[in-house]
Amino acid sequence: MSRTVTVIAIDGPSGSGKSSVSKAVAARLGLAYLDTGAMYRAATVWSMETADLDDPASVATAVRAMPLVMGLDPEAPGVELDGRDVAVPIRSTEVTTNVSKVASNLEVRAELKRLQREIIDQETSTVRAVQARGRGIVAEGRDITTVVAPDADVRVLLTASEEARLRRRSLEVHGAADAGAVEATKDQVLRRDRDDAKVTQFQVAADGVVTVDSSDLDFEQTVDAVLAVVAQAQAATSRA
Ligand code: DC
Repeated sequence: MSRTVTVIAIDGPSGSGKSSVSKAVAARLGLAYLDTGAMYRAATVWSMETADLDDPASVATAVRAMPLVMGLDPEAPGVELDGRDVAVPIRSTEVTTNVSKVASNLEVRAELKRLQREIIDQETSTVRAVQARGRGIVAEGRDITTVVAPDADVRVLLTASEEARLRRRSLEVHGAADAGAVEATKDQVLRRDRDDAKVTQFQVAADGVVTVDSSDLDFEQTVDAVLAVVAQAQAATSRA
């Protein structure tokens, strides 16, 4: 009997388009969507409110007690902390600037990895009494193909040239991609990737991970390229 593809893991550097592409792929395939970066961002908001960001032990303790609820609907993926919608605050410049500090805390990584695996297992469980959906999930984030879900059915590294990534993030954040706007975006893209690369590997595809380079593709073409990788994996599992 053929098995359907249920876990799709997508990682890649800042500005590669992994969030919007992952959401669109999940929506097209009727799967849940998990933004692991949003979990690190929520952990940053929570730590800024309840811990000392310069004290790794206090940050780790805060994150272990974090009352986080992740919404998994790709059309409206919410993030709640203690019943409060934090979808907007987690995207603030202050959080974007500080998130690598929290994400490089190994105790925080261990706790979020545990939560992420729990969510993926729930969404792929076939035990109906435990989980009503069990349809599968698209999970995206820096270490998802290598550490969190190395056994995912499909693993994609979504990448793009530095120039393309800076241009996209600049348009997203400043609404323009002139020289000044691109320069102002460099910290968010290049410095953050450099800091994140100290604890996660997302620049080069690991064994078995398919690279999709979106430098010369528009959004729809990138979504189609990822869907093609999924279809190929689906065909391979059906033959097996
Ligand atoms: O994808 P993003 O920009 O929303 O991610 C926010 C930060 O979280 C990013 O700087 C790196 C970190 N992150 C991580 O370390 N591991 C993940 N799986 C996802 C994000």
